Amino acid sequence: MRKEVIPVPGRMTPNAGLHSARADLISRSVGYERVECDFGASKGKFLSECAALHPRVFFVGLEGLSERVIRTNKKIKRLGLANAAIWRGWGRESLEELVPEEFLDTLHISFPDPWPKRRHWGRRLVTPEFLESAASRLKIHGVLRLMTDHPGYFESMKRNIAAQRCWIEVPWDDGIVRPVTEFETIFMDKGEPIGRLSVAKTAY
Ligand SMILES: C[S@@+](CC[C@H](N)C(=O)[O-])C[C@H]1O[C@@H](n2cnc3c(N)ncnc32)[C@H](O)[C@@H]1O
Repeated sequence: MRKEVIPVPGRMTPNAGLHSARADLISRSVGYERVECDFGASKGKFLSECAALHPRVFFVGLEGLSERVIRTNKKIKRLGLANAAIWRGWGRESLEELVPEEFLDTLHISFPDPWPKRRHWGRRLVTPEFLESAASRLKIHGVLRLMTDHPGYFESMKRNIAAQRCWIEVPWDDGIVRPVTEFETIFMDKGEPIGRLSVAKTAY
């Protein structure tokens, strides 16, 4: 099987079809108490376990690699989860294409690729522009939940958030039971520190 190359932002726009998927997302999520999005959902562990735990909440995933989207879709089907769906999409453009404005109650970004070398920092997902897109897709009081194992990336996330007036930090523990993500398990098993930040969108 051909190995898929991870596109570098700006060089590829593999988000074809996502805008038409928006109508599907809207109709499938009608009637649920909340809508949560897992961006960079990988093989769908967190997405599917969340959906199984919270049947009255709709969970939408976005993931850049199609083979992972296929695996997640198989999992969703096998578990019979009507309240979960995933689409293939890349970068902040995919969030804007798929998700309507002020639609999400929660957006999870867990362990985005850290791109530790300085010359690759431009490839990082959580940029000021991404945060603007995230704010536009969250409802007022909607929450962005970020996790990373990379201290430098965590610092840059915090700086970028502090520079935007629309965010206010809220407690990480919001009383909702959530499973651990695939990468969270890996870093917890290694005993490595994890940066966690939860911020709500204010009526700025
Ligand atoms: C390090 S993994 C973390 C997976 C999962 N969130 C977790 O916590 O276990 C990052 C995932 O995000 C996807 N990804 C990375 N950059 C992306 C981008 N710009 N757009 C969409 N997906 C992306 C990768 O393909 C990968 O599945």
